[in-house]
Amino acid sequence: MGKDKLRRFAAIKSFENVIEAKPEVDFSLKGSWRKNFFKNNNPIVLELGCGKGEYSLGLGKHYPNNNFIGLDLKGNRIYIGAKEALALNMKNVAFLRTRIDFITDYFAENEVDEIWLTFSDPQRKKPKKRLTSPLFIERYKQILKPGGLIHLKTDSELLFEFTLDEIEKNKYTCLENTWDLYGELSAKMDEETKAIFHIKTHYEKLFTAKGFTIKYCKFQIN
Ligand SMILES: C[S@@+](CC[C@H](N)C(=O)[O-])C[C@H]1O[C@@H](n2cnc3c(N)ncnc32)[C@H](O)[C@@H]1O
Repeated sequence: MGKDKLRRFAAIKSFENVIEAKPEVDFSLKGSWRKNFFKNNNPIVLELGCGKGEYSLGLGKHYPNNNFIGLDLKGNRIYIGAKEALALNMKNVAFLRTRIDFITDYFAENEVDEIWLTFSDPQRKKPKKRLTSPLFIERYKQILKPGGLIHLKTDSELLFEFTLDEIEKNKYTCLENTWDLYGELSAKMDEETKAIFHIKTHYEKLFTAKGFTIKYCKFQIN
């Protein structure tokens, strides 16, 4: 492992806004994130596979009365977002370093209001590992409030088509769906929505530079 990675791994251990969780260890914040971590009663929004956490930070700035938690396995990526949140003294943004697979160990029934999936790995050869596969959706059902929203923003045709098929097959409620977010929806967006979609993640910038269009859908599973 490179020196810089090791330095970042060590650094996040002392960050008050990063929690490192292991599935085999009882997680004390499950069911009490609001009371014991954020110390408020505001909605909780998750960014799954957050990388450097651009959406957690960006949404956190727009919505100071919501709580945002970015989840990712990679501590060296989380480090970037967590460091910025600390520098900006943002009390409504936190990061959880873990595998999303164990999400029901960290959040209780109805504890989560909204989920953002930002440029998730398309998992070309492993459909079960896609973050919108039935396996993951079942997990989200256990923690998401009735009517809670799931947002998917992606460059991947494969993941987008797969997700739309799952929505249709399972009769989830699709509230928004576009194959070209900036081309198609842009004209219809109010200023607030525009600002939210113009939060650009690291992977979004990479894929946009390669000429990919950005796909987006918003749906409810319960
Ligand atoms: C393609 S990157 C996107 C990162 C960021 N959202 C962005 O748009 O720049 C996918 C991220 O998901 C994380 N990831 C993928 N599967 C995961 C899992 N099962 N548990 C935790 N993190 C996962 C990876 O570590 C990686 O940081």
